Order: sequence, then structure tokens, then C-alpha cells
Amino acid sequence: MLKLSGLQFLLLIHLAIWLNLEGLSVTGPLKDMDFSVQEGGGPRILHQFKLESPAVSFRTSGEKAGIIDIEPRTGILYINGSLDWETKKVHKLQVESVDESGKRVKGPYAVTIYVEDINDNPPEFNQTKYYGVVRQNSRPGKPFMYVHATDRDDPTTLHAQLSYSILHHFPNPYDEMLFQIDNATGAISPSRKGSYYLDPQKQDTFILVVSVKDMAGTTTNAFTSSVDVIITVKESLWKAPPTIHIKENSTQVHPVNISKVQSNEPGVIYGILEKEKLPRLPFSISENGDIYVTQPLDREERDTYTFFVVSKDNTGELVDKPLQIHVIVEDINDNPPVCQQDLTVIEVQENEKGGSNIGTVFATDMDKKDTLNSRLHFQIQSQEPEFPVQNLFYIQQDTGTLQLTGRSLNKRESAKYFLKVLVTDSKFKTICDVEVHVIDINDQIPIFKNSDYGSIAVAEDISIGSVILEIEATDGDEPATGSSLIIYQVKEGDPNNTFIIETDSETNRGFIRINKALDFETMPVYNLVINATNPEPLVEGVQYNSSSLTVLRVFVTNVDEPPAFRKPIYRTEVSEDIPVNTLVMMVEAYDPEGDSVRYSLEGDVRKWLRIDSATGQVYTASPLDRETEEIYSVEVVVSELNNAAQKSKVFLILHLRDVNDNYPQIATDYPTFFCYPVSGGERTLIQATDADEQFFYSKFTFSLANEMNARNNWEISKFNATHAYLSLKHANFEEKVYDVPIILNDNGKPPLENKVNLKVSICKCSSENSCFIDIDREHSWPTVGQAIGILLGVLIIIGAIVAGAFCHMRYKEKNEKSNPKDAKDDAELNRLA
Ligand SMILES: *[C@@H]1O[C@H](CO)[C@@H](O)[C@H](O)[C@H]1NC(C)=O
Ligand SMILES: *[C@@H]1O[C@H](CO)[C@@H](O)[C@H](O)[C@H]1NC(C)=O
Ligand SMILES: *[C@@H]1O[C@H](CO)[C@@H](O)[C@H](O)[C@H]1NC(C)=O
Ligand SMILES: *[C@@H]1O[C@H](CO)[C@@H](O)[C@H](O)[C@H]1NC(C)=O
Ligand SMILES: *[C@@H]1O[C@H](CO)[C@@H](O)[C@H](O)[C@H]1NC(C)=O
Ligand SMILES: *[C@@H]1O[C@H](CO)[C@@H](O)[C@H](O)[C@H]1NC(C)=O
Ligand SMILES: *[C@@H]1O[C@H](CO)[C@@H](O)[C@H](O)[C@H]1NC(C)=O
Ligand SMILES: *[C@@H]1O[C@H](CO)[C@@H](O)[C@H](O)[C@H]1NC(C)=O
Ligand SMILES: *[C@@H]1O[C@H](CO)[C@@H](O)[C@H](O)[C@H]1NC(C)=O
Repeated sequence: MLKLSGLQFLLLIHLAIWLNLEGLSVTGPLKDMDFSVQEGGGPRILHQFKLESPAVSFRTSGEKAGIIDIEPRTGILYINGSLDWETKKVHKLQVESVDESGKRVKGPYAVTIYVEDINDNPPEFNQTKYYGVVRQNSRPGKPFMYVHATDRDDPTTLHAQLSYSILHHFPNPYDEMLFQIDNATGAISPSRKGSYYLDPQKQDTFILVVSVKDMAGTTTNAFTSSVDVIITVKESLWKAPPTIHIKENSTQVHPVNISKVQSNEPGVIYGILEKEKLPRLPFSISENGDIYVTQPLDREERDTYTFFVVSKDNTGELVDKPLQIHVIVEDINDNPPVCQQDLTVIEVQENEKGGSNIGTVFATDMDKKDTLNSRLHFQIQSQEPEFPVQNLFYIQQDTGTLQLTGRSLNKRESAKYFLKVLVTDSKFKTICDVEVHVIDINDQIPIFKNSDYGSIAVAEDISIGSVILEIEATDGDEPATGSSLIIYQVKEGDPNNTFIIETDSETNRGFIRINKALDFETMPVYNLVINATNPEPLVEGVQYNSSSLTVLRVFVTNVDEPPAFRKPIYRTEVSEDIPVNTLVMMVEAYDPEGDSVRYSLEGDVRKWLRIDSATGQVYTASPLDRETEEIYSVEVVVSELNNAAQKSKVFLILHLRDVNDNYPQIATDYPTFFCYPVSGGERTLIQATDADEQFFYSKFTFSLANEMNARNNWEISKFNATHAYLSLKHANFEEKVYDVPIILNDNGKPPLENKVNLKVSICKCSSENSCFIDIDREHSWPTVGQAIGILLGVLIIIGAIVAGAFCHMRYKEKNEKSNPKDAKDDAELNRLA
């Protein structure tokens, strides 16, 4: 096949006519033939069929498209113009040879011309502008819109293989794009950065310049088209609802719809996640995000609930970060007042004057404190008997304090009064029962049966609580009232309350008990004077006299007691670096009976100490270390030399004083991290600590070790004595853990230096206080200076695109100039015909 320029074609047609193209390999006898012809390219000769006598010419029919033909006399198959693949891909002709009389000699034969595609069509978007909406915090990589372009070239070739890309977006406040496009499908989605930073409050519209290239975008000769995509950023639908208030003890039919959440993505699966571990969480969420309370709540059982709602896709992956839901259970008045006692008993002496306080009725209400729901009112509803008059008593409405109204009570009129006190809150009523006992006046004093109980002997090691004697007095007043109950007390002879006397309220007898340990050596004998009194005051004119007193002598008997230490505890402070065999302190014990004693140690688990068994001197036995144990406690045992069973123990406590013998470290209580992606310049506080005592680390200095280009990536600046800022020097950090070599110095004596490798995570943050989780921080939008920079950058890019297009045009023009015009060739061909 010959492919020729117009001029060559013209010459060749003439040549072929004159020379009959005898010598050309493109000649041959008439038969079925296929040809492949690249589209475009202008007029050309494809073949010459040879005439075989008696044939004198060829006849051609079929899909000539007006430009394909065979010159009848010469048999030259030519195309007078350009074929177009996009218009017709295959042209089928039938050719036969005929003799003088026009009768067919051979044929018809099929001549088929296949048109081959060349990349002559640029891709075209099917819209002139695209509009899209994206929600704040949408998942990175999740498409929210598509652009679509077509290319008319042969789809089985690279000519129609399209690749999409985002050239730019305006504005672009970060060094990374907020959007990304799938180069094959044209799906546009937020980038990681976009998912994090898109915020309609900051910027609600973006213009993306999306370009599409054919040739799969692989060669620079590919055709390119571009289109504007206008993206509106909308607020995230996924927002925690405001605190939900639910009235307790609701009578509505449950479950009750209380709130709603909505994911930014359709088709997610909602769920509830407990925050506090409860036996049962009375909330549920429906398929479409409605939140329900499943049963009536009880504020008195639990007044707030907190839980999370989550949204997952069908693979179980979290779509959005969990939202925290707060529920407050509101009080309603659903609790009646409750009497503190089923029956309140109050004693009133006959001689009690009118107006006196005689007691209080106590009631409670479980509803919310300090609200009207729990405000109580007291009121006397009835008095039984109403004799001699009604309204003998008065109750203070808000406090429940009972008083006598006007007159004293008289036991002969009634010994008991029954009161019904009505206690109300704003809704409920409760009756509290009160019994008022009218008791005799206290005009009799207790009188001891014996005015002298003689003497008793008690061993000094008697256990505390033992009863050593029973005593008894009698009282002539009304039994089982405060006028006759007897209180026994030691009036003289027991300054340290070694004894205590209890009364049996039934029998009014007194039990003398040991209250504190006796000691023969300090106090061998007690001369006790004991009095007997009533809890109710005596009436005027009656007084306690000597008949209400008795005496008792207690002899303490000696027993062999264990040795005793001079002090209840021994403490001392030593420097942690003292040498072995240093005298730490001396303990001292004595035996009450004067025996010799010997000392030993117990609980010296670190084997740090030894004791001189004769003198009680304590020495160090091995080096001490404050950082192992700052307060070291052992027991010293002392025993009688002749009776080892008689022994006592005391604690010896050693406080170790610090010396600077520990290297400074970075505090690792909280992991150091930055949220990916970083924009450069973020900083965080790091803290140095030191196992040595506070005193020594009042000052640390921080610096970066000169290695692993640490100083290109990081910067450390002093914050205060214990803290420093670690900041990022640029934005090109990957999502991984970095080792930051840091040199720490303390200011102890001697000063110590330490090199540590701080692990710093660059990680994606979501909602709580770790890498996982969202840290509330300022989005860094560009300053005016940066914005101008971005603008300049954009202008330069546009300039480059325009310049490129211009060069391409010039290039094409030049190529076209070297081809003569098709029109001229057509004219020549016409003359031929
Ligand atoms: C563009 O193409 C896409 C994908 O085929 C189609 O969904 C969309 O409707 C088209 N738009 C127009 C305006 O034809
Ligand atoms: C298109 O994207 C795929 C991965 O998504 C990548 O492997 C390929 O190189 C990209 N093609 C072009 C032309 O950028
Ligand atoms: C709910 O209120 C009714 C009266 O309104 C009361 O009888 C019931 O005890 C209350 N339930 C709870 C759990 O408080
Ligand atoms: C549930 O309540 C929310 C408002 O709290 C409302 O938007 C939603 O439509 C309700 N759902 C149903 C099923 O009634
Ligand atoms: C009885 O003894 C106690 C204790 O010493 C004393 O407080 C009280 O006043 C005495 N009572 C009389 C009436 O002496
Ligand atoms: C009472 O206690 C003091 C101080 O503890 C003591 O000196 C005194 O001997 C004690 N007296 C008696 C009688 O126990
Ligand atoms: C003490 O008083 C009572 C009467 O209250 C009397 O019987 C008794 O004799 C008096 N005792 C002395 C020692 O005066
Ligand atoms: C240094 O600053 C940190 C953080 O504000 C603070 O917790 C710490 O107490 C400060 N240290 C000193 C020595 O002031
Ligand atoms: C070639 O085409 C042109 C215009 O399309 C026509 O004028 C001319 O006659 C044709 N020549 C031949 C040889 O068919």
C-alpha cells in the first residue's frame, strides 16, 4: 500500500496512466482483497488490478463513500480524500472486469477496506460544569460525585482510554489537596486531609479543575480536556443531638422516640455502644437513626445516662466517629414523703412549761432535693384523746418540731397522747404516728444500795472490756422513763478514763469495765468515787446528795510483763549514699521487772540493716538506695534475756534522703503524638522527670541530639523548668512512629546528662484522648501572605498551560504547512476522470 502526499499522489496517478504501473508490487490480478487504511491522511492509491483479456475495464460498486473508486481503464484503486473511522469503519466494494461489450469477464470480487483509528478525537466531558455536595467529615475516599468524559476514538485502543486527574482546586489552603479523583472512574471524594479539614464555616465552596487525558494519560501527546467542578461543603449531618431530657416514670407507650441521628452516608447501620457498664441500657436505635427509650426511667435509681451511637458500613467498619449522647432524667413528684420512724415516741415531764420544744417528727422524700417535689409540710391531723382540750400540741409547719401549746401536761388526765401528723409534698400525703408519753416529774434521786463496795484486785494484764464489778442504785421515779434511768460515772480517782460504767436500762444496774490497759508499775491502786444521776433534770428543790455516791478501791496486781520500748516508734533520716556500717540510730527498751534485754530485727527484707543485740545500735549492713525504697521500715524485737517469750516489737522507719544518682528521662505518662496529616509548625509539650527527688530537678535542659537529621525534622524550645515544646519543622511526615533523639540534662549535684529516644506518633486522630481520637485544635488556614503565594502559584500554572497549548498549536500549523492542500489534489483527480 502506498501512502502519499497530495502532490506525490497526483504525479503517481499520471505516471501510472503512462507506465501502466507495470513494475509496481501493488499491482495484481483481480481477486478478493482486504486493505487497512489509517483514517485521515488524504488522497492515496491503494492498489492496481491488472486487466486480463478479453477484459478491457473494471466496474466497481458498493460503499464507495464518494471517494473510493477504481479507475476503470487502469485498474487503480484509490481514495480521493480522507476516510474517517468515526464515520465508517469498513467499506465493502464489489469489482468485476468487463469486455468491450460490457459483459462481465471476471468477478464480482469483494474488495474490503478497513479503516484504522488514529487518535484524532480529544476526550469530552458530558457536561460543561459539574456541581457536587460534600458533607464535612465525610470518609476519605468515599465518592460523593462523578465526572464523565467520552472519546470518539476506537475504545479498543489507547486513543480512547481516559485518565482523570485534579489539576488544582481553588482555594487550596493546605499543601495537600482536600479532594481526590479516581483516575479511571472519575469518582471524586475527599482526601484524608479533606475529611479532616473541610468545614463549611471556614470555606463552603471549592472549584476543582478536573482534567481528562486520553492515551491513558501516559504520553505527553495525549489530548486533554478540562472542566470546572463546583463543590459545596455542607455541615456534617452526623452531629450529637443536644442533651436529651426525659421525664421519669413516663406513662407513654414505650419505646418512645427521643432523638435522631443521621450519618453523612446513606445505608449505614446504626448501633449503640455503652459507655458505663450498666446491667441494662434502656435505649435503642432504629435502622434510620431514631433513638428510643425502651422503658420508663426512674430518676431516683439513676438520674443521667451517657452512651455512644455509632454508624457502620456493611463490612462493620466505623463510618463516622462515635457520637456521645447525654440523657438527663427529670424529676417528677413520684415519691411520697416517708416517716423516718414508724412510731415517734416523745417523753414529756409533767412540769414541762407551755411553749417548750418536746421533740421533732422526721420525714424524708426521695424526689429531687431542693425542689418543690421534695418540700414537706407538717400538720397535726388529730390528737387522741382530745382531753382535757384539743390542740395541746403545735407542730412547726416546715421543720416538724413539736411544741406544747399553752399548758403543762398532767399524767392524771392522760398518760399518753396519740398524734397523727400529716406530712405532705405537693402531691402526696403520709401520716406519721407520734406517741407522747407524759412522765412523772423527776423528784427522786438515785440511791446506791452500798455506799462502799470495798476493794477488788485486778491483774494488770486484764483485757480491755472486761467487767470487774456490778453496782446498783435505785430510783423511786416512774420506771422506764428518763426520770428513773440511772447514769453511773466515775466522779473522782480516774483521771485517764481507765474505767467506764454501762447501765442496763432494764435493771438499772451498772457494769464497771476496763476501758484502757492497766499498769501496775505506773498506777498500782485506784480509789474510785462513783456517782449516779438521771438523764432528766431534777425538779426544782431536789438535789443529788451523798446517797447518790459510792466508793471502790481497785488494786492492780503485778504480772511479769514484756520489755517495753522508750518510744512507740523510731524514725530517722539518712542520706541514701552513706557507707556500709554507718550507725543509723539507737533504740532503747527496758523491762518493767528490771530484767536485761536483747534486741533483734524482723522484716529487714533488703538486708540493709543490722542491730547490736546488747546496745540496740542499728547500723547499715549494705548500700541503700532511695529509688528502690524511699521509706524503709523494719521491726525491732526486744525480749527478756532470761525469758525470750516475753518480747515486744516496735517499728523502725528509715527515710532515705536523695542524692542525684538518676538520669533524667522523658515522662511517658501520656504518649507524644501529632495528628496526621500535619501541616508543619504544630507543637506539643514534653516533660522531663527524674527518679531523684523534686529538689534536684528544679531545672532540666532539653536539646536535640545531632543525628538522623533530627534537626531538620524537629525543634525543641524551652517552656519552663520541666517542660519543653517539641515542634514539627515541616509537613512531610508519614503516618508512623518516629524516634526523636533528645538530650536531657538535670541540674543536680553532680549534674547528669541522658540521651533518650522519644517515640513520637504521627497518627490519625479521631474522637478521644489518644491517637485514635480527635483532638480539638485550630485549623490553620492560610495567612494573607500565604494566600497571595497560592494565587501566584495558580497563575504560574495557568500560564504554563496556556504557553503549552500555544506551542502545540504552532507545531501543528507547521506540520500542516508542509502538506499541500487536499483541494488541489481533488482537482487533479477530477481531471483524470
Ligand atoms: C454524563 O455521564 C454520566 C455517566 O454515564 C451520566 O450518569 C450522566 O447523566 C451524564 N450527564 C449528562 C448531562 O449526560
Ligand atoms: C491511576 O491510579 C492507579 C491506582 O489507583 C495507579 O496505579 C495508576 O498509575 C494511575 N494512572 C495514572 C495514569 O495516573
Ligand atoms: C411512678 O408513678 C406512680 C404514680 O404516678 C407511682 O405509683 C410509681 O411508684 C412510680 N414509679 C416509680 C418507679 O417511681
Ligand atoms: C423521632 O424524633 C425525631 C426528633 O427528635 C424526628 O426527627 C424523627 O422524625 C422521629 N422519628 C419518628 C419515627 O417519629
Ligand atoms: C457525776 O460525775 C461526773 C463525772 O465526774 C460529773 O461530770 C458530774 O457532774 C457528776 N454529777 C454529780 C451530780 O455530781
Ligand atoms: C494518766 O496519763 C498520764 C499521761 O499519759 C500519765 O502520766 C499518768 O501516769 C496517768 N495516770 C494514771 C492514773 O494512769
Ligand atoms: C439524800 O436525800 C434523800 C431524799 O432525797 C434522803 O432520803 C437521804 O437521807 C439523803 N441522804 C443524806 C446522806 O442526806
Ligand atoms: C511547667 O508547665 C507545666 C504545664 O503548664 C506545668 O504543669 C508545670 O507545673 C510547670 N513546671 C514548673 C516547674 O513550673
Ligand atoms: C476528487 O474529489 C473532488 C472533490 O471532492 C472532485 O472534484 C474530483 O473530481 C475527484 N476526483 C476523482 C479522480 O474522482
